[in-house]
Amino acid sequence: MEISAAVLNDVNEDYQLEELTLGEIYPDEVVVKIVATGICHSDEALRVGDAAFPMPSVLGHEGAGIIEKVGASVKDFSAGDQVVMAYNYCGTCPSCRTGHPSSCSQWTALNFAGTRQDGSHTFFKKDGTPVANFFTQSSFATYTITNANNLIKIDPDEDLRLFGPLGCGLLTGFGTVVNGLKPATSSSIAVFGTGAVGLGVLMTAKIEGCSTIIAVDIHDARLETAKDLGATHTINSRTENLEERIAEIRGGQGVDYTVDTTGISAVMKSAVDVLGIGGITAPVAVTPNSIEFNTFTDLVLANRKLIGVLMGDSVPQLAVPKLIQYHKEGKFPFDKLVKFYKFSEINQAAADSNSGKTIKPILIVDENYRKDEPLEYNFQI
Ligand SMILES: NC(=O)c1ccc[n+]([C@@H]2O[C@H](COP(=O)([O-])OP(=O)(O)OC[C@H]3O[C@@H](n4cnc5c(N)ncnc54)[C@H](O)[C@@H]3O)[C@@H](O)[C@H]2O)c1
Ligand SMILES: [Zn+2]
Ligand SMILES: [Zn+2]
Repeated sequence: MEISAAVLNDVNEDYQLEELTLGEIYPDEVVVKIVATGICHSDEALRVGDAAFPMPSVLGHEGAGIIEKVGASVKDFSAGDQVVMAYNYCGTCPSCRTGHPSSCSQWTALNFAGTRQDGSHTFFKKDGTPVANFFTQSSFATYTITNANNLIKIDPDEDLRLFGPLGCGLLTGFGTVVNGLKPATSSSIAVFGTGAVGLGVLMTAKIEGCSTIIAVDIHDARLETAKDLGATHTINSRTENLEERIAEIRGGQGVDYTVDTTGISAVMKSAVDVLGIGGITAPVAVTPNSIEFNTFTDLVLANRKLIGVLMGDSVPQLAVPKLIQYHKEGKFPFDKLVKFYKFSEINQAAADSNSGKTIKPILIVDENYRKDEPLEYNFQI
């Protein structure tokens, strides 16, 4: 099958729209016609080489679309179903069987290898060159091959164009709070970086009953959005003294929970330093940077904890429908973060995300999907 995809041929290059051939599906796979896809900062991390990945590749892992064809052993999905795609997992290892599929023993092999586990590819250039896939998803394409385990079924009445980012960035923000930090009612939380992941943390902290929600960023416009979404305090760490402001807000007690989404060494360290006694920090960025601290004085002496949380330790098939329900109830108004772009504007969309202009770009891949129904949300910028 001939398809179009935004191919990344090498690190630091722009995406190039190219015609590719889609291979044949395996029995546990499906072909999805992509309707729309978010761009996540993790795509950008691979594009600029912050995390190593085989090239050429088709990135994208916040896709939403319609099933075109199902493999022989796929039971729960059929052609025509609306789906959001999240990550792949094996379904049979101890972590998968105990409800922690992002801790799947095969997670890296299934999502970051660029090939199926047998080494085969799903995309090929015209000259036969294999092209790597990402997250068993590669949503920067008109059609893709994915695994049934990646899929979340979406009600046929819903407008799919908004939902792709629920499969990664927002799932991560949500799960980091409910599965990672598990905040106590009326507790305090500070989130460093108010992109899609940080704002997902913030909206969830509000739902979970945190009473002090501090948003930290270097862009005032993002901090305004954070305020709109429920931040009780905002700090521009470029123009204000972070530690002084937090001491003032917390009366010198430190914060119960912090999440870093920036991946910058000094910021990740601040997220440890501002914790109160017994506080927990979750650094969740995809970053080549490290932090240095003294385990005794910085952690042990105050019973502080540092935790890693991948994909919010969420079960996407349970979390995504819950987030759609929260969105309907007005509790998770993530449409406020979104700006839509044409698929051909992918490089502009990535640049706008990097510059801080757009929080969550969504590319409309199939412009004919519900062509007569306007996109009915409020958009930033
Ligand atoms: N752990 C996971 O499973 C997981 C899943 C998805 C994304 N991620 C990672 O999470 C991170 C955040 O993703 P995103 O899509 O929200 O990215 P983003 O780029 O939209 O957000 C990062 C935010 O950090 C802010 N920032 C930059 N420098 C800062 C500083 N010095 N102080 C305070 N704020 C600063 C930026 O202005 C921006 O608002 C990325 O590294 C992404 O790869 C991790
Ligand atoms: Zn992502
Ligand atoms: Zn598994």
